[in-house]
Amino acid sequence: MMCACIWCNVDDLVSSPLAMTKIATLARTAVTATIAKRTVGRVSLAPVSSYTASSSPPSDAEAAATIAREDRHAVAKSKLKAFRRIVNDRVSARRFLPDTPVPDAVWNDILRMTRTAPSGFNLQPTSVILLRSPAIKRTLAEHAMLGVGNKYRTIDSSGIAIFCADLRPGMRVHRIHELEREAGTREDGYMSVMRVASTFLTGEGGFGGGGGGGRLSAFAKRMFTDALSPVRPMPTMEDVGMWSYKNAGIISQLYTMAASAHGLSTCMMEGYDARRAMEILRVPHERYGLPIMVATGYEYGALPAVHADTLGGKDDEEEEEYDHERCGRTPRLGMNETFFGDTFGEPLDFLLNGITPLESETAT
Ligand SMILES: Cc1cc2nc3c(=O)[nH]c(=O)nc-3n(C[C@H](O)[C@H](O)[C@H](O)COP(=O)(O)O)c2cc1C
Repeated sequence: MMCACIWCNVDDLVSSPLAMTKIATLARTAVTATIAKRTVGRVSLAPVSSYTASSSPPSDAEAAATIAREDRHAVAKSKLKAFRRIVNDRVSARRFLPDTPVPDAVWNDILRMTRTAPSGFNLQPTSVILLRSPAIKRTLAEHAMLGVGNKYRTIDSSGIAIFCADLRPGMRVHRIHELEREAGTREDGYMSVMRVASTFLTGEGGFGGGGGGGRLSAFAKRMFTDALSPVRPMPTMEDVGMWSYKNAGIISQLYTMAASAHGLSTCMMEGYDARRAMEILRVPHERYGLPIMVATGYEYGALPAVHADTLGGKDDEEEEEYDHERCGRTPRLGMNETFFGDTFGEPLDFLLNGITPLESETAT
């Protein structure tokens, strides 16, 4: 690929992703310096030094725009490549390497990324237990997990993220409202409706701030919204459990991808007796449900994971090799069985037309 910017005239440079990253850094530095000069003294605009030798130098603005465009392109491409690798590498681990702890710094980073998950009204209705205690894992395996595979995974994995879905998310509204107010990132309109709308949408609470008087049951709210729906758009009344489990699905998936990005293997698990598990893990059963657990660690028989801070000399080719060593992927329904265009059941035109996926272009 040829690059139009002035730093990229050498073919072999632009063909290397590492070089592109360096170029992008150089470009950023140059733009920053140029913009700094321009803003310090508006009267004498200093030219970008690299352009002075050219017979018809592009203006500062043109140069900056070219650099920015190239920079964005390089960043977008490397982001896409990294994300695709994480997606393609993730498969559910069948067995984990026993007695292999994950470094605390890695756990910490995974949880920090997990925390950025979106949630309805930003209520963040999922608490996560990171279970690493061998004794509790064994108890859980023996008394709550279903099936031999899940029992082994529970004992052998380095840790299990246990996602606890809050079935009374209305109890979070006050705290989240405070957080939002302090952060000051929301508009006034949002802040004024957030309390009522969130408790309404989550299928619990009531008008007038929730709690005691004036409370409408979820049933009454559903009747009310169903009756008005033909007249004007009304909120869809979900059961609070569905709402909260939906949110748990989203955060658990983000956790899984974050763990995968760290080279860890995962296996989502729903095969357990939630009542027993909650007892063992001391989860308040009157408030929470346990929709999903994610066993996390190092896959038995896979190449050893290399954490980013110990990457050292590992280069792209080695990683490529690791990719290909992965065991086969589980089957998926056809694209046209899962994805529709515009209305339910309607085929997507670009699937019918056999458009080549972008993957082959960005794989390198
Ligand atoms: C909600 C959910 C629950 C799952 N529960 C289990 C489980 O209890 N035990 C298990 O071995 N795998 C479980 N899996 C893993 C699935 O079997 C696996 O995701 C599916 O076969 C696709 O394979 P892949 O994850 O390797 O792409 C679960 C996955 C999801 C999303």
